[in-house]
Amino acid sequence: MSLSATVLKQKVGIAAAQRVQSGMVVGLGTGSTTAFAIEEIGRRLKAGEIKDIVGVPTSFQASVLAKQYGIPLVTLDDVSGVDLAIDGADEVDPHKNLIKGGGAAHTREKVVDYLAKQFIVVVDQSKLVDRLGSTYPVPIEVIPMATAPVMRTITALGGKPELRLGVKKDGPIITDQGNFVIDATFAEIANPGELEKTLNNIPGVVENGLFVGAADIILVGEDQNGTAVVREIV
Ligand code: A5P
Repeated sequence: MSLSATVLKQKVGIAAAQRVQSGMVVGLGTGSTTAFAIEEIGRRLKAGEIKDIVGVPTSFQASVLAKQYGIPLVTLDDVSGVDLAIDGADEVDPHKNLIKGGGAAHTREKVVDYLAKQFIVVVDQSKLVDRLGSTYPVPIEVIPMATAPVMRTITALGGKPELRLGVKKDGPIITDQGNFVIDATFAEIANPGELEKTLNNIPGVVENGLFVGAADIILVGEDQNGTAVVREIV
């Protein structure tokens, strides 16, 4: 019987949390995989394995979890940098480029993750792809009044834009910044770095979920003959 994605996410989340050292400013990512890392950092703090940690949350949800597990939080006004960021991803390509934003948190995630001296990505094996965009659209955060022209521009670029709708909420989802998210499907993303810049140049776009050249280490939770193992890609 194969292991569930949740088991692999937990394994890899805990492995990333083991890399946190005393005194660090830690970027706390968003999503179900990072949630396991946040829980483990909290456990290690409580157990006295590490001390003097502060976390910089990448979303409202990350701050809720950090508070739940007893991790002191700071903002980017309070610290001069971030030592280590741990965050999930929706897709990872062979060059360690990412698509993020499945939880609509990619704008704050990009700020925190790009600031970190070391950015560790935690994923289960299902997130590895040969080419970005093959299983997941590119999330694009827009200010609401620019939604229609941004969608037209995405179409002109060869993408298929779709306004992300809420669950148990009529109408579009609202980000932590009060904006909308357009999910753009591209038949082929030949140059993720170019597309990242092109999308961010559209007036009204706040940030997109392509993270190119940012990740230092990918930790992958893999099912190897029924055993959960962590593979490191550097
Ligand atoms: C949040 O907006 C995303 O970037 C998440 O980091 C990403 O969706 C990974 O989520 P899971 O760990 O839940 O798969």
